[in-house]
Amino acid sequence: MYDAALKLVGSQPEPISVEEYARRVNRLTAQLRPGDLLVIPSSPSAVHSNDVHYPYRTQSDMLYLVGWDEPEAVLTVHHSDDGWIRTLFVQPKDTLKEIWEGRRPGVEGALKGWSVDAAHSCDDMEEKMNELLSSSKRVLMRTGIRSDLDSLVMQSLERRDRARQHFGTGPTSMEDPSARIAELRLRKSPAEIEQMRFASDVSSIAHVAAMRNTKPGRMEYQLQATIEGFFAYAGTSGWAYPSIVGCGDNATVLHYHQNNDVCEDGEVILIDAGAEYRGYAADITRSWPINGRFSEAQKEIYQLVLDAQLAAIDKCRPGLPYNAPHDEARRVLAEGLIDLGVIEQTLDEALDLETGDLRKWYMHNTGHWIGLDVHDVGTYKPNGEPRLLEEGMVLTVEPGLYFGAWRPDVDCPERYANLGIRIEDDVLVTANNPDVLTAACPKTVEEIENITGKPF
Ligand code: GLY
Ligand code: MN
Ligand code: MN
Repeated sequence: MYDAALKLVGSQPEPISVEEYARRVNRLTAQLRPGDLLVIPSSPSAVHSNDVHYPYRTQSDMLYLVGWDEPEAVLTVHHSDDGWIRTLFVQPKDTLKEIWEGRRPGVEGALKGWSVDAAHSCDDMEEKMNELLSSSKRVLMRTGIRSDLDSLVMQSLERRDRARQHFGTGPTSMEDPSARIAELRLRKSPAEIEQMRFASDVSSIAHVAAMRNTKPGRMEYQLQATIEGFFAYAGTSGWAYPSIVGCGDNATVLHYHQNNDVCEDGEVILIDAGAEYRGYAADITRSWPINGRFSEAQKEIYQLVLDAQLAAIDKCRPGLPYNAPHDEARRVLAEGLIDLGVIEQTLDEALDLETGDLRKWYMHNTGHWIGLDVHDVGTYKPNGEPRLLEEGMVLTVEPGLYFGAWRPDVDCPERYANLGIRIEDDVLVTANNPDVLTAACPKTVEEIENITGKPF
């Protein structure tokens, strides 16, 4: 099955070039002044149990600025007579450690293959960092990631030694650079979009594989395994976020994660799963009938969510506010639920955020930025005003309706009891029409019914 699925996936794109990493850093340093020291720490690795670690995933800002994905690294950027200097501190070559834990690029490898001007062993980080700090005036670093770095920087800020008194050296202020980097990350380059397109293709075809592998009696975790197995088979690093695989009323729990129920005849399953490729996420949700045919009631809700999603995608255009897709999805869903007799309010009443009945069945936002983080960085309301969409931004569009008959807070319509539908795609804003990166994942009723339960 995986070989048949793999044929449908586009080829792996070229990695991000060293020139592009240099451009990214240049865009950042163009906002800085001599005397600034930028410090980008990597995340610490996390223990799974005893001496077993979780697979390592570094900070997205580290990936964005230099593409280094090994643990313990620190990137610094400081100004010298030669301009801005990028220095990477990395785990040094160490044969014994490499025998146990895997090969390391080391200092020489970093200098050869990555977009940096200097590289040092992380064993020398404290000494070299103190030198960099003493010749800086302002440190740009996000705290709370590496406590050892936090301490070094704090000590340096607090130091009142003779060098500072004589020469006025050492930092006097600190800034979190996250917002500046987020502004850059919000607008994706063509090379980034190619990584996202590949993650999206793999994720789309993984959903198709799961649809084909669906039948009554399947366990939710078996469909999860189909999807995540294909993520690995296709050469991605795995999931971008834990897969949500819920059939029947489990689909009405937004962040359902147990994935251990049996898929029953007559139920609809909701799967929200996306792969990560070279750090870039895809985020797809599809909902399909376990027996391959939607009932009339299921079809009514499915088609309404799909209509809302298509209308919302059409609002992913330059110049429109980021929340235009959300407002459009809410409007279509509310109108549809009024027509179906689920909501007995006027449209305006149904849409009211406090008292409207739409919130009973649709309680989340319609999307979020996506990129190196599945919920990617970038403020939605800079200066309090909704951000206007621009070419190169990528956002998800994911309306849904959830009729949890188990909920004590609502009177669930019997016709739709325990039905949860969400349809989610990742959409690139372009000068022309919205570009649905996850378009390879089928979503019309007809397509889904033609695929579900049928082998490749
Ligand atoms: N999979 C997480 C989300 O859809 O936001
Ligand atoms: Mn999402
Ligand atoms: Mn999702």
